[in-house]
Amino acid sequence: MTRICDYEGSNYRTEFWENQNRAYEDGVERVAVKKMLPPTGHRLLEIGAGFGRLVDLYSGYQQIVLSDYARTQVEEARQYLGPNDQIVYVVADIYNLPFVDNLFDSTMMIRVMHHLTDVPDALGEIHRILQADGTSLIEYANKRNIKAITRWLLRQQNWHPFEHEPIEFVEMNFNFHPRWMHEQFAQAGLHINSKRSLSHYRIELLKKYLPTDLLVRLDAWVQPTGNYWQFTPSIIVEAQAQKENQTSATGFFRCPQCHNHDLYLTEHPDHEGQLFVCHTCQVGWSYRDGIYDFKTPQALS
Ligand SMILES: C[S@@+](CC[C@H](N)C(=O)[O-])C[C@H]1O[C@@H](n2cnc3c(N)ncnc32)[C@H](O)[C@@H]1O
Repeated sequence: MTRICDYEGSNYRTEFWENQNRAYEDGVERVAVKKMLPPTGHRLLEIGAGFGRLVDLYSGYQQIVLSDYARTQVEEARQYLGPNDQIVYVVADIYNLPFVDNLFDSTMMIRVMHHLTDVPDALGEIHRILQADGTSLIEYANKRNIKAITRWLLRQQNWHPFEHEPIEFVEMNFNFHPRWMHEQFAQAGLHINSKRSLSHYRIELLKKYLPTDLLVRLDAWVQPTGNYWQFTPSIIVEAQAQKENQTSATGFFRCPQCHNHDLYLTEHPDHEGQLFVCHTCQVGWSYRDGIYDFKTPQALS
């Protein structure tokens, strides 16, 4: 059974990012995204967007869809980013995205893969919603990193960093072997164009004594070596959706329950806000406070 790492109600922004000495990690991800993401486009989706930390990097897109499994994260993103007509907020599960096929020119997924128990299913969904030749940027945690190798050699770690199978080192936290991961991309029809290795200098002493800007610049310089070898804790892959035909998307949302595209927005006396109702299976999905919620089906009496 697919398990989910549920961030509902978590203080991810304040507890993980703010005042936690993680400006270096944020900086190196920003460098990679700027280098790898097509700078302009029609429609971009971020999956597991959290509070929308990286949204300023997508300003060249006409429409930005931010999605996350946790409604409270989407609410936080909306509050954090302020009013912005360019952004659509959606509560959705990566394993069953509420979007029609071929909808997006680009998708992003950063710091989410390490929470996923079913990588093939997740990559399959990303491939489905991307246009032919659409771009996907995906970050994953690399089990074959220098620290893990050293710890394993010193017998401080019992799992083997060179074994291809994913390792769940803490409940719902997975590290992946690059070869295994890149095979999953190929099987999902996502052709890898480039890779960057990130966070070469994620060492507390360096972070403490060297200026963050300098460390980020040094990391930026060596990130492209990820095309040849991957020994850092984090890797970003830029992949293109291989599809036989160039069919364009019809519509926008699809019902996560029956996958039909025919949804209509309506008021309902028993529900706050509005409901998106599926014509086929007659299930309702809530739309309130500017957020489409495709996680919890609403019964229609
Ligand atoms: C570590 S946070 C990363 C947030 C953001 N990408 C960032 O880098 O700041 C992981 C996010 O993935 C989301 N997530 C976990 N499982 C998910 C799933 N099955 N579908 C969609 N989002 C998921 C969580 O709710 C959480 O917001």
